[in-house]
Amino acid sequence: MNTQKRDTFRSKFGVLAAAAGSAIGLGNIWKFPYITGQNGGAAFLFVYLGFIVLIGVPIMLSEFIIGRKSQANAYGAFKRLGANGLWRHIGILGVLAAFMILSFYGVVAGWSLRYITYAIQNSSNLTPEQIAESFNSFITNPTQPIIYQLSVMLITGAILIFGVQKGIENTSKILMPIMLIIVVILDIKSITLEGATEGLDFLFNPDFSKLTFHGVLIALGHAFFSLSLGMGCLITYGSYINRDNNLLSTAVNVSVADTLIAILASIAIIPAVFAFGLEPSQGPGLIFITLPNVFQQMQGGLFFSILFFILLTIAALTSAISIMEVSVAFFHEELKIKRRISVILVTALTSMLGVICSLSLGIYSDYTCFGKNIFDLMDFISSNILLPCGGCLISLFVGWKMGQKMVEKELEHGSTVKIWFLKTFIFIVKFVAPIAILIVFVSGLI
Ligand code: TRP
Repeated sequence: MNTQKRDTFRSKFGVLAAAAGSAIGLGNIWKFPYITGQNGGAAFLFVYLGFIVLIGVPIMLSEFIIGRKSQANAYGAFKRLGANGLWRHIGILGVLAAFMILSFYGVVAGWSLRYITYAIQNSSNLTPEQIAESFNSFITNPTQPIIYQLSVMLITGAILIFGVQKGIENTSKILMPIMLIIVVILDIKSITLEGATEGLDFLFNPDFSKLTFHGVLIALGHAFFSLSLGMGCLITYGSYINRDNNLLSTAVNVSVADTLIAILASIAIIPAVFAFGLEPSQGPGLIFITLPNVFQQMQGGLFFSILFFILLTIAALTSAISIMEVSVAFFHEELKIKRRISVILVTALTSMLGVICSLSLGIYSDYTCFGKNIFDLMDFISSNILLPCGGCLISLFVGWKMGQKMVEKELEHGSTVKIWFLKTFIFIVKFVAPIAILIVFVSGLI
Protein backbone atom coordinates (compact mmCIF):
# COMPACT_ATOMS: atom_id res chain seq x y z
CA MET A 1 0.00 0.00 0.00
CA ASN A 2 1.05 3.53 -0.69
CA THR A 3 2.21 5.26 2.47
CA GLN A 4 2.14 8.68 0.85
CA LYS A 5 -1.04 10.61 1.70
CA ARG A 6 -3.52 10.67 -1.18
CA ASP A 7 -4.39 13.99 -2.73
CA THR A 8 -8.06 14.83 -1.97
CA PHE A 9 -10.67 17.49 -2.62
CA ARG A 10 -10.50 20.13 0.07
CA SER A 11 -13.88 21.84 0.28
CA LYS A 12 -17.47 20.71 -0.08
CA PHE A 13 -18.02 23.20 -2.86
CA GLY A 14 -14.92 21.77 -4.53
CA VAL A 15 -16.37 18.25 -4.42
CA LEU A 16 -19.61 19.49 -5.92
CA ALA A 17 -17.90 21.58 -8.60
CA ALA A 18 -15.59 18.74 -9.63
CA ALA A 19 -18.29 16.08 -9.75
CA ALA A 20 -20.77 18.39 -11.48
CA GLY A 21 -17.96 19.38 -13.83
CA SER A 22 -17.57 15.74 -14.76
CA ALA A 23 -21.27 15.20 -15.24
CA ILE A 24 -22.00 18.40 -17.15
CA GLY A 25 -20.44 18.08 -20.54
CA LEU A 26 -21.06 17.58 -24.23
CA GLY A 27 -23.78 15.20 -23.14
CA ASN A 28 -25.78 18.07 -21.68
CA ILE A 29 -25.22 20.80 -24.20
CA TRP A 30 -24.61 18.97 -27.46
CA LYS A 31 -26.46 15.70 -27.11
CA PHE A 32 -29.38 16.30 -24.75
CA PRO A 33 -31.02 19.10 -26.78
CA TYR A 34 -30.78 17.16 -30.02
CA ILE A 35 -32.03 13.83 -28.67
CA THR A 36 -34.88 15.69 -26.98
CA GLY A 37 -35.57 17.34 -30.32
CA GLN A 38 -35.55 13.99 -32.10
CA ASN A 39 -37.60 12.07 -29.57
CA GLY A 40 -40.60 14.30 -29.11
CA GLY A 41 -39.61 16.98 -26.60
CA ALA A 42 -41.37 17.11 -23.23
CA ALA A 43 -42.50 13.46 -23.10
CA PHE A 44 -38.89 12.39 -23.54
CA LEU A 45 -37.78 14.85 -20.89
CA PHE A 46 -40.18 13.37 -18.32
CA VAL A 47 -39.02 9.81 -18.94
CA TYR A 48 -35.43 10.97 -18.68
CA LEU A 49 -36.12 12.65 -15.34
CA GLY A 50 -37.66 9.43 -14.06
CA PHE A 51 -34.52 7.48 -14.92
CA ILE A 52 -32.28 10.06 -13.28
CA VAL A 53 -34.15 9.76 -9.99
CA LEU A 54 -34.80 6.04 -10.01
CA ILE A 55 -31.53 4.70 -11.42
CA GLY A 56 -29.09 7.54 -11.92
CA VAL A 57 -28.89 8.80 -8.36
CA PRO A 58 -28.59 5.30 -6.80
CA ILE A 59 -25.78 4.29 -9.15
CA MET A 60 -23.97 7.57 -8.62
CA LEU A 61 -24.23 7.00 -4.89
CA SER A 62 -22.92 3.45 -5.40
CA GLU A 63 -19.87 4.76 -7.22
CA PHE A 64 -19.17 7.31 -4.49
CA ILE A 65 -19.51 4.61 -1.82
CA ILE A 66 -17.12 2.25 -3.58
CA GLY A 67 -14.63 5.05 -4.13
CA ARG A 68 -14.63 6.58 -0.68
CA LYS A 69 -14.69 3.27 1.12
CA SER A 70 -11.80 1.82 -0.91
CA GLN A 71 -9.73 4.99 -1.26
CA ALA A 72 -8.57 3.68 -4.59
CA ASN A 73 -8.86 4.14 -8.36
CA ALA A 74 -11.57 2.55 -10.51
CA TYR A 75 -9.63 -0.70 -10.92
CA GLY A 76 -7.98 -1.01 -7.50
CA ALA A 77 -11.21 -0.21 -5.65
CA PHE A 78 -12.78 -3.63 -6.18
CA LYS A 79 -9.64 -5.43 -5.06
CA ARG A 80 -9.44 -3.30 -1.94
CA LEU A 81 -13.00 -4.12 -1.04
CA GLY A 82 -12.21 -7.80 -1.04
CA ALA A 83 -13.63 -8.74 -4.42
CA ASN A 84 -12.43 -12.09 -5.61
CA GLY A 85 -12.40 -14.05 -8.84
CA LEU A 86 -13.58 -12.10 -11.86
CA TRP A 87 -15.02 -9.37 -9.62
CA ARG A 88 -11.47 -8.25 -8.87
CA HIS A 89 -11.02 -7.20 -12.47
CA ILE A 90 -14.27 -5.49 -13.40
CA GLY A 91 -12.68 -2.06 -13.05
CA ILE A 92 -10.64 -2.75 -16.14
CA LEU A 93 -13.79 -2.19 -18.21
CA GLY A 94 -13.87 1.35 -16.89
CA VAL A 95 -10.26 2.07 -17.74
CA LEU A 96 -10.86 0.73 -21.23
CA ALA A 97 -14.02 2.81 -21.60
CA ALA A 98 -12.12 5.89 -20.45
CA PHE A 99 -9.62 5.55 -23.30
CA MET A 100 -12.33 4.95 -25.86
CA ILE A 101 -14.66 7.73 -24.75
CA LEU A 102 -11.92 10.29 -24.43
CA SER A 103 -10.72 9.55 -27.94
CA PHE A 104 -13.94 10.72 -29.60
CA TYR A 105 -14.90 13.14 -26.82
CA GLY A 106 -11.68 15.06 -27.41
CA VAL A 107 -12.48 15.33 -31.10
CA VAL A 108 -15.91 16.89 -30.49
CA ALA A 109 -14.44 19.13 -27.77
CA GLY A 110 -11.94 20.25 -30.43
CA TRP A 111 -14.77 21.17 -32.81
CA SER A 112 -16.25 23.25 -30.06
CA LEU A 113 -12.97 25.07 -29.50
CA ARG A 114 -12.67 25.78 -33.20
CA TYR A 115 -16.21 27.19 -33.31
CA ILE A 116 -15.24 29.88 -30.82
CA THR A 117 -12.66 31.17 -33.25
CA TYR A 118 -14.87 30.44 -36.23
CA ALA A 119 -17.61 32.58 -34.74
CA ILE A 120 -15.13 35.41 -34.37
CA GLN A 121 -13.84 35.16 -37.95
CA ASN A 122 -17.12 34.53 -39.61
CA SER A 123 -19.43 37.43 -39.39
CA SER A 124 -20.17 37.30 -43.11
CA ASN A 125 -23.52 36.07 -44.39
CA LEU A 126 -23.57 32.42 -45.32
CA THR A 127 -26.50 30.46 -46.68
CA PRO A 128 -27.71 27.47 -44.62
CA GLU A 129 -26.15 25.16 -47.21
CA GLN A 130 -22.81 26.92 -46.89
CA ILE A 131 -22.92 26.59 -43.10
CA ALA A 132 -23.54 22.85 -43.36
CA GLU A 133 -20.90 22.51 -46.03
CA SER A 134 -18.36 24.38 -43.95
CA PHE A 135 -18.98 22.11 -40.93
CA ASN A 136 -18.68 18.97 -43.01
CA SER A 137 -15.55 20.04 -44.77
CA PHE A 138 -14.01 21.01 -41.43
CA ILE A 139 -14.62 17.69 -39.66
CA THR A 140 -13.43 15.65 -42.62
CA ASN A 141 -10.28 17.72 -43.07
CA PRO A 142 -7.12 15.70 -42.29
CA THR A 143 -5.33 18.36 -40.23
CA GLN A 144 -7.61 21.14 -38.98
CA PRO A 145 -9.75 19.22 -36.46
CA ILE A 146 -6.67 17.40 -35.19
CA ILE A 147 -4.97 20.64 -34.24
CA TYR A 148 -7.98 21.58 -32.10
CA GLN A 149 -8.37 18.08 -30.65
CA LEU A 150 -4.72 17.98 -29.62
CA SER A 151 -5.05 21.42 -28.04
CA VAL A 152 -7.92 20.18 -25.89
CA MET A 153 -5.96 17.09 -24.85
CA LEU A 154 -2.94 19.18 -23.95
CA ILE A 155 -4.99 21.57 -21.82
CA THR A 156 -6.64 18.59 -20.09
CA GLY A 157 -3.28 16.96 -19.39
CA ALA A 158 -1.81 20.27 -18.19
CA ILE A 159 -4.58 20.66 -15.61
CA LEU A 160 -4.17 17.09 -14.37
CA ILE A 161 -0.43 17.55 -13.88
CA PHE A 162 -1.33 19.84 -10.97
CA GLY A 163 -3.12 17.02 -9.20
CA VAL A 164 -6.50 16.52 -7.62
CA GLN A 165 -6.83 19.60 -5.47
CA LYS A 166 -4.75 22.18 -7.34
CA GLY A 167 -5.67 20.85 -10.76
CA ILE A 168 -9.14 19.34 -10.82
CA GLU A 169 -10.75 21.07 -7.85
CA ASN A 170 -9.46 24.57 -8.45
CA THR A 171 -10.23 24.50 -12.18
CA SER A 172 -13.76 23.28 -11.54
CA LYS A 173 -14.39 25.88 -8.85
CA ILE A 174 -13.61 28.63 -11.34
CA LEU A 175 -15.19 27.22 -14.47
CA MET A 176 -18.50 25.91 -13.14
CA PRO A 177 -19.87 29.27 -11.96
CA ILE A 178 -18.79 30.86 -15.27
CA MET A 179 -20.71 28.17 -17.09
CA LEU A 180 -23.86 28.82 -15.11
CA ILE A 181 -23.68 32.55 -15.81
CA ILE A 182 -23.23 31.99 -19.55
CA VAL A 183 -26.10 29.56 -19.84
CA VAL A 184 -28.45 31.94 -18.00
CA ILE A 185 -27.50 34.83 -20.33
CA LEU A 186 -28.18 32.61 -23.34
CA ASP A 187 -31.51 31.53 -21.87
CA ILE A 188 -32.67 35.10 -21.39
CA LYS A 189 -31.80 35.88 -24.99
CA SER A 190 -33.52 32.77 -26.29
CA ILE A 191 -36.82 33.12 -24.44
CA THR A 192 -37.16 36.80 -25.22
CA LEU A 193 -37.00 36.18 -28.96
CA GLU A 194 -40.23 36.62 -30.84
CA GLY A 195 -41.78 33.22 -31.48
CA ALA A 196 -39.91 31.49 -28.65
CA THR A 197 -43.08 30.18 -26.98
CA GLU A 198 -43.47 27.47 -29.58
CA GLY A 199 -40.11 26.09 -28.51
CA LEU A 200 -40.97 26.29 -24.81
CA ASP A 201 -44.17 24.47 -25.56
CA PHE A 202 -42.27 21.75 -27.37
CA LEU A 203 -39.94 21.40 -24.39
CA PHE A 204 -42.42 21.42 -21.52
CA ASN A 205 -45.83 20.41 -22.80
CA PRO A 206 -45.68 16.64 -23.11
CA ASP A 207 -47.33 14.75 -25.94
CA PHE A 208 -46.82 11.11 -24.98
CA SER A 209 -47.97 9.91 -28.37
CA LYS A 210 -44.63 11.13 -29.70
CA LEU A 211 -42.67 8.84 -27.38
CA THR A 212 -41.41 5.53 -28.75
CA PHE A 213 -39.83 2.51 -27.05
CA HIS A 214 -36.62 3.45 -28.78
CA GLY A 215 -36.89 6.89 -27.18
CA VAL A 216 -37.19 5.30 -23.73
CA LEU A 217 -34.00 3.32 -24.33
CA ILE A 218 -32.18 6.41 -25.49
CA ALA A 219 -33.32 8.19 -22.32
CA LEU A 220 -31.83 5.57 -20.01
CA GLY A 221 -28.60 5.31 -21.98
CA HIS A 222 -28.25 9.05 -21.89
CA ALA A 223 -29.00 9.27 -18.16
CA PHE A 224 -25.93 7.09 -17.70
CA PHE A 225 -23.69 9.03 -20.00
CA SER A 226 -24.80 12.39 -18.70
CA LEU A 227 -24.26 11.53 -15.04
CA SER A 228 -20.80 10.05 -15.87
CA LEU A 229 -21.83 6.60 -14.65
CA GLY A 230 -20.54 3.13 -15.36
CA MET A 231 -16.90 3.92 -15.95
CA GLY A 232 -15.61 4.31 -12.45
CA CYS A 233 -15.17 8.03 -13.02
CA LEU A 234 -17.14 8.76 -9.88
CA ILE A 235 -15.45 5.90 -8.04
CA THR A 236 -12.20 7.73 -8.70
CA TYR A 237 -13.66 11.09 -7.65
CA GLY A 238 -15.38 9.41 -4.69
CA SER A 239 -11.99 8.25 -3.46
CA TYR A 240 -10.96 11.90 -3.21
CA ILE A 241 -13.97 12.89 -1.09
CA ASN A 242 -13.30 13.35 2.61
CA ARG A 243 -15.25 11.46 5.24
CA ASP A 244 -17.07 14.54 6.52
CA ASN A 245 -18.95 14.93 3.23
CA ASN A 246 -22.49 13.66 2.94
CA LEU A 247 -22.38 11.31 -0.04
CA LEU A 248 -26.13 11.15 -0.57
CA SER A 249 -26.61 14.89 -0.71
CA THR A 250 -23.58 15.16 -3.00
CA ALA A 251 -25.09 12.61 -5.39
CA VAL A 252 -28.45 14.38 -5.32
CA ASN A 253 -26.92 17.83 -5.82
CA VAL A 254 -24.74 16.69 -8.70
CA SER A 255 -27.69 15.01 -10.42
CA VAL A 256 -29.85 18.10 -9.97
CA ALA A 257 -27.11 20.37 -11.33
CA ASP A 258 -26.54 18.08 -14.30
CA THR A 259 -30.23 17.92 -15.16
CA LEU A 260 -30.72 21.62 -14.62
CA ILE A 261 -27.93 22.50 -17.03
CA ALA A 262 -29.28 20.06 -19.63
CA ILE A 263 -32.67 21.75 -19.40
CA LEU A 264 -31.18 25.26 -19.37
CA ALA A 265 -29.09 24.37 -22.44
CA SER A 266 -32.22 23.14 -24.20
CA ILE A 267 -33.99 26.39 -23.30
CA ALA A 268 -31.07 28.30 -24.77
CA ILE A 269 -31.23 26.32 -28.00
CA ILE A 270 -34.69 25.01 -28.86
CA PRO A 271 -36.86 28.17 -28.51
CA ALA A 272 -34.26 30.06 -30.55
CA VAL A 273 -34.36 27.37 -33.23
CA PHE A 274 -38.17 27.60 -33.39
CA ALA A 275 -38.11 31.38 -33.35
CA PHE A 276 -36.19 31.38 -36.63
CA GLY A 277 -38.44 28.80 -38.21
CA LEU A 278 -35.95 25.93 -38.07
CA GLU A 279 -36.45 22.36 -36.87
CA PRO A 280 -34.92 20.94 -33.65
CA SER A 281 -34.82 17.38 -35.01
CA GLN A 282 -31.64 17.83 -37.02
CA GLY A 283 -29.62 15.37 -34.94
CA PRO A 284 -25.91 15.75 -34.12
CA GLY A 285 -25.64 18.78 -36.41
CA LEU A 286 -28.09 20.75 -34.24
CA ILE A 287 -25.50 22.91 -32.55
CA PHE A 288 -22.88 22.99 -35.27
CA ILE A 289 -25.20 23.58 -38.23
CA THR A 290 -28.69 24.64 -37.13
CA LEU A 291 -27.52 26.88 -34.32
CA PRO A 292 -24.98 28.86 -36.38
CA ASN A 293 -27.90 29.55 -38.72
CA VAL A 294 -29.84 30.88 -35.78
CA PHE A 295 -26.97 33.05 -34.57
CA GLN A 296 -26.52 34.48 -38.03
CA GLN A 297 -30.08 35.76 -38.12
CA MET A 298 -30.16 36.90 -34.49
CA GLN A 299 -29.41 40.42 -33.38
CA GLY A 300 -26.06 40.31 -31.55
CA GLY A 301 -25.62 36.80 -32.91
CA LEU A 302 -21.84 36.99 -33.02
CA PHE A 303 -21.62 37.74 -29.31
CA PHE A 304 -24.07 35.01 -28.35
CA SER A 305 -22.39 32.55 -30.66
CA ILE A 306 -19.01 33.09 -29.01
CA LEU A 307 -20.59 32.78 -25.57
CA PHE A 308 -22.31 29.56 -26.57
CA PHE A 309 -19.17 27.85 -27.82
CA ILE A 310 -17.20 29.01 -24.78
CA LEU A 311 -19.90 27.36 -22.68
CA LEU A 312 -19.63 24.16 -24.69
CA THR A 313 -15.84 24.10 -24.50
CA ILE A 314 -15.79 24.65 -20.73
CA ALA A 315 -18.35 21.89 -20.24
CA ALA A 316 -16.35 19.51 -22.41
CA LEU A 317 -13.07 20.35 -20.70
CA THR A 318 -14.16 19.65 -17.12
CA SER A 319 -15.64 16.34 -18.29
CA ALA A 320 -12.53 15.39 -20.26
CA ILE A 321 -10.50 16.03 -17.10
CA SER A 322 -12.59 13.50 -15.18
CA ILE A 323 -12.39 10.87 -17.91
CA MET A 324 -8.63 11.21 -18.17
CA GLU A 325 -8.26 11.04 -14.38
CA VAL A 326 -9.70 7.49 -14.44
CA SER A 327 -6.73 6.28 -16.48
CA VAL A 328 -4.20 8.51 -14.74
CA ALA A 329 -5.18 7.23 -11.29
CA PHE A 330 -5.03 3.67 -12.63
CA PHE A 331 -1.54 4.11 -14.12
CA HIS A 332 -0.32 5.85 -10.99
CA GLU A 333 -1.73 3.56 -8.33
CA GLU A 334 -1.85 0.19 -10.03
CA LEU A 335 1.09 0.34 -12.41
CA LYS A 336 3.08 2.42 -9.88
CA ILE A 337 4.08 5.03 -12.41
CA LYS A 338 4.75 8.55 -11.10
CA ARG A 339 1.68 10.74 -11.41
CA ARG A 340 3.32 13.24 -13.77
CA ILE A 341 4.55 10.51 -16.07
CA SER A 342 1.13 8.86 -15.94
CA VAL A 343 -0.48 12.09 -17.07
CA ILE A 344 1.96 12.42 -19.95
CA LEU A 345 1.51 8.80 -21.00
CA VAL A 346 -2.28 8.91 -20.86
CA THR A 347 -2.39 12.25 -22.70
CA ALA A 348 -0.16 10.85 -25.45
CA LEU A 349 -2.11 7.60 -25.79
CA THR A 350 -5.57 9.18 -25.85
CA SER A 351 -4.38 11.89 -28.23
CA MET A 352 -3.19 9.22 -30.65
CA LEU A 353 -6.49 7.36 -30.46
CA GLY A 354 -8.27 10.67 -30.92
CA VAL A 355 -6.31 11.44 -34.09
CA ILE A 356 -7.44 8.11 -35.52
CA CYS A 357 -11.05 8.89 -34.56
CA SER A 358 -10.88 12.27 -36.21
CA LEU A 359 -9.32 10.88 -39.39
CA SER A 360 -11.99 8.18 -39.51
CA LEU A 361 -14.49 10.90 -40.43
CA GLY A 362 -12.37 11.87 -43.44
CA ILE A 363 -9.49 10.03 -45.06
CA TYR A 364 -9.94 6.84 -42.97
CA SER A 365 -13.68 6.68 -43.53
CA ASP A 366 -13.30 3.52 -45.61
CA TYR A 367 -12.10 1.54 -42.61
CA THR A 368 -15.31 0.31 -41.07
CA CYS A 369 -16.43 -2.45 -38.75
CA PHE A 370 -20.11 -3.53 -38.62
CA GLY A 371 -20.78 -0.64 -40.98
CA LYS A 372 -19.42 1.93 -38.50
CA ASN A 373 -16.33 4.09 -38.86
CA ILE A 374 -13.83 4.14 -35.99
CA PHE A 375 -15.33 7.27 -34.42
CA ASP A 376 -18.82 5.75 -34.27
CA LEU A 377 -17.41 2.39 -33.21
CA MET A 378 -15.62 3.91 -30.19
CA ASP A 379 -18.84 5.68 -29.23
CA PHE A 380 -20.94 2.56 -29.75
CA ILE A 381 -18.70 0.10 -27.88
CA SER A 382 -18.13 2.40 -24.93
CA SER A 383 -21.60 3.95 -24.55
CA ASN A 384 -23.69 0.93 -25.50
CA ILE A 385 -21.56 -1.93 -24.16
CA LEU A 386 -18.89 -0.93 -21.65
CA LEU A 387 -20.84 1.69 -19.68
CA PRO A 388 -24.02 -0.37 -19.24
CA CYS A 389 -21.97 -3.45 -18.30
CA GLY A 390 -19.90 -1.37 -15.90
CA GLY A 391 -23.00 0.24 -14.39
CA CYS A 392 -24.71 -3.09 -13.96
CA LEU A 393 -21.66 -4.66 -12.29
CA ILE A 394 -21.15 -1.66 -10.00
CA SER A 395 -24.76 -1.83 -8.92
CA LEU A 396 -24.65 -5.60 -8.34
CA PHE A 397 -21.38 -5.26 -6.46
CA VAL A 398 -22.81 -2.75 -4.00
CA GLY A 399 -26.10 -4.62 -3.60
CA TRP A 400 -24.88 -8.18 -3.35
CA LYS A 401 -21.18 -8.11 -2.45
CA MET A 402 -20.84 -5.10 -0.17
CA GLY A 403 -24.29 -5.42 1.34
CA GLN A 404 -26.40 -3.27 3.59
CA LYS A 405 -24.05 -3.19 6.61
CA MET A 406 -21.01 -1.91 4.79
CA VAL A 407 -23.07 0.58 2.79
CA GLU A 408 -24.69 1.88 5.96
CA LYS A 409 -21.34 2.36 7.64
CA GLU A 410 -19.92 4.30 4.72
CA LEU A 411 -23.01 6.50 4.38
CA GLU A 412 -22.99 7.29 8.08
CA HIS A 413 -19.82 9.31 7.68
CA GLY A 414 -21.07 12.84 7.23
CA SER A 415 -24.79 12.10 7.55
CA THR A 416 -27.48 10.14 9.31
CA VAL A 417 -29.08 7.34 7.39
CA LYS A 418 -32.77 6.48 7.56
CA ILE A 419 -33.52 2.79 7.51
CA TRP A 420 -36.29 3.06 4.89
CA PHE A 421 -33.89 4.88 2.64
CA LEU A 422 -31.20 2.25 3.08
CA LYS A 423 -33.62 -0.57 2.32
CA THR A 424 -34.97 1.15 -0.79
CA PHE A 425 -31.47 1.91 -2.00
CA ILE A 426 -30.30 -1.68 -1.56
CA PHE A 427 -33.42 -2.94 -3.33
CA ILE A 428 -32.77 -0.65 -6.28
CA VAL A 429 -29.12 -1.61 -6.69
CA LYS A 430 -29.81 -5.30 -6.19
CA PHE A 431 -32.74 -5.62 -8.61
CA VAL A 432 -34.23 -2.54 -10.27
CA ALA A 433 -31.12 -0.94 -11.74
CA PRO A 434 -29.47 -4.15 -13.02
CA ILE A 435 -32.69 -5.33 -14.68
CA ALA A 436 -33.37 -1.95 -16.27
CA ILE A 437 -29.81 -1.80 -17.56
CA LEU A 438 -30.02 -5.32 -18.91
CA ILE A 439 -33.15 -4.48 -20.87
CA VAL A 440 -31.56 -1.42 -22.40
CA PHE A 441 -28.33 -3.28 -23.07
CA VAL A 442 -29.96 -6.15 -24.92
CA SER A 443 -32.30 -3.96 -26.96
CA GLY A 444 -29.42 -1.61 -27.72
CA LEU A 445 -27.48 -4.48 -29.26
CA ILE A 446 -30.45 -5.61 -31.30
N1 TRP B 1 -21.02 13.16 -18.37
C1 TRP B 1 -20.22 13.78 -19.38
C2 TRP B 1 -21.15 14.46 -20.38
O1 TRP B 1 -22.30 14.58 -20.16
C3 TRP B 1 -19.30 12.80 -20.06
C4 TRP B 1 -18.55 11.94 -19.10
C5 TRP B 1 -17.59 12.34 -18.22
C6 TRP B 1 -18.74 10.55 -18.92
N2 TRP B 1 -17.16 11.27 -17.49
C7 TRP B 1 -17.86 10.17 -17.89
C8 TRP B 1 -19.58 9.64 -19.51
C9 TRP B 1 -17.85 8.85 -17.44
C10 TRP B 1 -19.56 8.33 -19.06
C11 TRP B 1 -18.71 7.93 -18.03
O2 TRP B 1 -20.72 14.90 -21.40
